[in-house]
Amino acid sequence: MFDFPDDQIAQVSLEHNFWTWSAQGGVDPIPVTRAEGVYFWDAHGKRYLDFNSMMMCVNLGHGDPRVIEAIVAQARALPFAHGSMATRPLAELGRLLAHLTPGDMDHFLYTLGGAEANENAIKLARAVTGRHKILTRYRSYHGATAGAMALTGDPRRHSWEPNLMGGVVHFLDPYRYRSTFHRTNPDIPEAEFTRDYLNHLEEIITYEGPGTIAAVMVESVTGTNGILIPPDGYMQGVRALCDKYGILMIADEVMAGFGRTGKWFAVDHWGVVPDLMTMAKGLTSSYLPLGAVGMRPFIAEHFRERVFQSGLTYSGHTLTLAAAVANIKAMMEDDVVGQAAARGVFLRQQLMDLGEKHPSIGDVRSIGLFAGVELVKNRETREPLSPFNQTTEPMKRLRKFCLERGLNIFMHWNVVLIVPPLIITEELLAEGLAVLDEALAIADAEVTE
Ligand SMILES: Cc1ncc(COP(=O)(O)O)c(C=O)c1O
Repeated sequence: MFDFPDDQIAQVSLEHNFWTWSAQGGVDPIPVTRAEGVYFWDAHGKRYLDFNSMMMCVNLGHGDPRVIEAIVAQARALPFAHGSMATRPLAELGRLLAHLTPGDMDHFLYTLGGAEANENAIKLARAVTGRHKILTRYRSYHGATAGAMALTGDPRRHSWEPNLMGGVVHFLDPYRYRSTFHRTNPDIPEAEFTRDYLNHLEEIITYEGPGTIAAVMVESVTGTNGILIPPDGYMQGVRALCDKYGILMIADEVMAGFGRTGKWFAVDHWGVVPDLMTMAKGLTSSYLPLGAVGMRPFIAEHFRERVFQSGLTYSGHTLTLAAAVANIKAMMEDDVVGQAAARGVFLRQQLMDLGEKHPSIGDVRSIGLFAGVELVKNRETREPLSPFNQTTEPMKRLRKFCLERGLNIFMHWNVVLIVPPLIITEELLAEGLAVLDEALAIADAEVTE
C-alpha cells in the first residue's frame, strides 16, 4: 500500500496533499524525480530546461556536489544546534555575508525563508525607530505570512484582508512601460521620470507623517510582478529620502540577490546601502530553506542592552547554514556572478531580437539573468495580452507549448519571466529562447492592428 512506482508519483501526491497557490481541483503537477545543472527530469524520463530555476531560486544550478557534500558532512557531524549556541557554519556564514553584502552591513539574523526575513526586518525597523508604518509598493511581493502579506502590494493580499498586519501604506512603482504619471508623455527623459516617482514617494511620506514611518521597503528589482528595474537615480533617491526623514530603508533581495542581476546584490548596481536587507532563495540556491536579514551596525547596536524579543526554533538551522556557506563558496570559486553578468548581455540581445520579430512583444526588461518579456495585443495602445491580475487562454497555451517542448518557464499575467540558473551557457539560453520564439506565434496571433 505504501509502495508505488515512479509513474504514479503525481497521482499519489494528489491523494493527500494540499497545494498552495492553487484551486485543488486544477492541480496537475510535474512528477519531478531528479535534477542536474540547468535541467530536471520527470518520472517518465522527460527532460526540462529550467528557465525558472524552479522557483527563481536555484541560482547555482541543480545538484552541485560541493553543496550536497557539505550538507552530508554537516548532517554527520551536527545537523542541528540550539539557537543560542555557536557553530562553524554560523561563524563562517556571518563572515561571508559581512564580506559580500553592501557597505557596512555586518550583522545577520536567520530565518527559514523570505517572508520570515521580511517579518523580522520590520520588527527591527519598528523597534529601532519607535515608529510603526511601513511603506511598500503596489507591484511587490514580500511573502505569504500575515505581516509579509500585508507588505505585499500585489493582489495576492486581497483574499486575506482586512485581517493582516496594520500600518502598511503602498505607493506606486517606477514602472516605465505603464507609468501612471506619463500616459500622455511616455517619452519623458529618464531623469524626470525618476524625479516624478521620488516626488510621489515624498508626498506620501509627507501625508502619512514622517514621524510615523519606520521604513520604506522595496524589492531592489521587482521580481514576480514583471521584472521592474528601477531607473538610475531611483534607489539613490529612495535612500536620500529615507535619510532626510529618519526612515530606514529595507531592500528585499530575496529574489534579486545572490548574483541574479549580475552583481551579488541588486542594490550594488546603484551603490546604495540599505539599512536592512532581506535574503533567501539564492542564499542556499534552495538546497535547503534559509532566509536572512542583514543589518547595519547601528541596528545591531540598538540591541546591545535591549533584548530582541523574537526567534524561531530554526533560526539558523545548522544544516541550512552549512548549505549557504557551501553555496556561496561555490559561487565565488566559479565566479558565477561574473558569468551571470556576461550571459545577461547575451540574453538581453537575444530578447531584443525577439522583440523585433514578434509584434506581441511590447517591452523587454532585463538585468543580468533576470528578464521579463511583456506581451501586448497592440503595441500602440499597449493593451496587455492578459489584463491585470488575470491569466488569459493565450498565456496558458504559451506556457503549455513551452512545457511540452521541455522548457520550464514562468508566466505572470502578461509577462514571460526568464530566470535560469546562473550557470547556464549561451548555447542553452539560445536553445530555450528558440522554443519561446516558436511559442510566441500563439501571442502574435492575438495581436490586433
Ligand atoms: C521579493 C520576494 N520577497 C519575499 C518572498 C517570500 O519568500 P518565501 O517564499 O521564501 O517566504 C519572495 C518569494 O518569492 C520574493 O520573491
